[in-house]
Amino acid sequence: MSGGHHGVVGAQPDVPPRGARGDGGAATVGSPRLVLDLAVVRARFRALRAALPAVEAAYAVKANPHPDVLALLAAEGASFDLASVGELDACLLARAPSTHLSWGNPVKKVSDVRAAAAAGVIRFTTDSPADVDLLARHAPGAAVCVRLGVADEGSATPFAGKFGVDVDEAVALLRRARAAGLRAEGVGFHAGSQQRDPHAWDRGIALAARVVTAIGDHDAPVELNLGGGFPSGHADGPAPSVDECARAIRGALAQHAPRWSPRLVAEPGRVVVADAGTLVAEVVLVAERSGRRWVYLDVGRYQGLAETENEMVVYRLRTPGHDGHPTGPVVLAGPTCDGDDVLYRRADVRLPLDLAPGDAVEFLGAGAYTASYASVGFNGLPPLPTVVVGSTSADLPALEESPR
Ligand SMILES: Cc1ncc(COP(=O)(O)O)c(C=O)c1O
Repeated sequence: MSGGHHGVVGAQPDVPPRGARGDGGAATVGSPRLVLDLAVVRARFRALRAALPAVEAAYAVKANPHPDVLALLAAEGASFDLASVGELDACLLARAPSTHLSWGNPVKKVSDVRAAAAAGVIRFTTDSPADVDLLARHAPGAAVCVRLGVADEGSATPFAGKFGVDVDEAVALLRRARAAGLRAEGVGFHAGSQQRDPHAWDRGIALAARVVTAIGDHDAPVELNLGGGFPSGHADGPAPSVDECARAIRGALAQHAPRWSPRLVAEPGRVVVADAGTLVAEVVLVAERSGRRWVYLDVGRYQGLAETENEMVVYRLRTPGHDGHPTGPVVLAGPTCDGDDVLYRRADVRLPLDLAPGDAVEFLGAGAYTASYASVGFNGLPPLPTVVVGSTSADLPALEESPR
């Protein structure tokens, strides 16, 4: 935790990012950089808790694993959803108790499960017979949650069939887990990340209710995992709020499972950190090509803007010192020699006509799925450093008790 001063962390914390100078304070780190405001992280986490008060909130570490974010959320009493041993270690360093950790990735190595079990993690998500057997062998007695595959239309970054099983397969997996000595406790789903349709949760809850009916009340899972997917606002307009999603979730539970009262868990990632981050970049080159104006930045697909792939996420942009000036359409590109390193060709991105090399371009709402996606050094460019600003948890007022 960086305590009362600003901290800077790249994807390889031991290697100071090129451009980072002095003590790593916000004013002295070069461009590009992700500026992350911890006060916003805390506010968003509390808003989620308030919207879903009876739900265990397990922060999906992958969205932004910065140590200050994890420490802040651990101090808030959050649980954590893990995808790897690296995330496990990061959470343990942040002093999250192992009882608050669950392994949400259904694709695991033996060494992953052994490391998790050795650290005291006893909750795992699964969606295949081989993975159930692996858990039974290397984490005997663990609690498992079977992930259902849901239609994830409405999601900007859908899983598109990569994970999840149907109702019959879920029943078979729960039975297999129980027979193997595991605690077949849960059923869950993920409605797709950046899910803009609050009713997407309805589809998952309806499937989970069918699992309960099919397996019978006696063996019914006692936990329902609602996944992540809560969206953040981008250039295509404001996103449904967590309150709207929570209302849809409550309505779906009442409609599909009025007599089932499982423990509820959610795995929010994006919504907790997206609005806390501003990615500050710089114009490198402006050029006319085949009648279009290309603006090349010092940040691109390989320094953290992975979610611009297929233009899935179109960030809101700010151009300090130029906002309000006449604009024109641009193709926005990254700095590397890769032809894929073009952020937006189709999206209607307009930038001030007087923008020139050295001018800043800021990507708003960029706190999620950016810094952790940056490559370690494609084209010799360093990973995106994070500069923490705002109040760290050490500076924040004493915690009130927030309901779970
Ligand atoms: C298993 C799991 N849980 C939670 C999340 C977090 O999703 P989001 O950031 O959309 O809230 C993800 C994202 O990929 C995930 O794979």
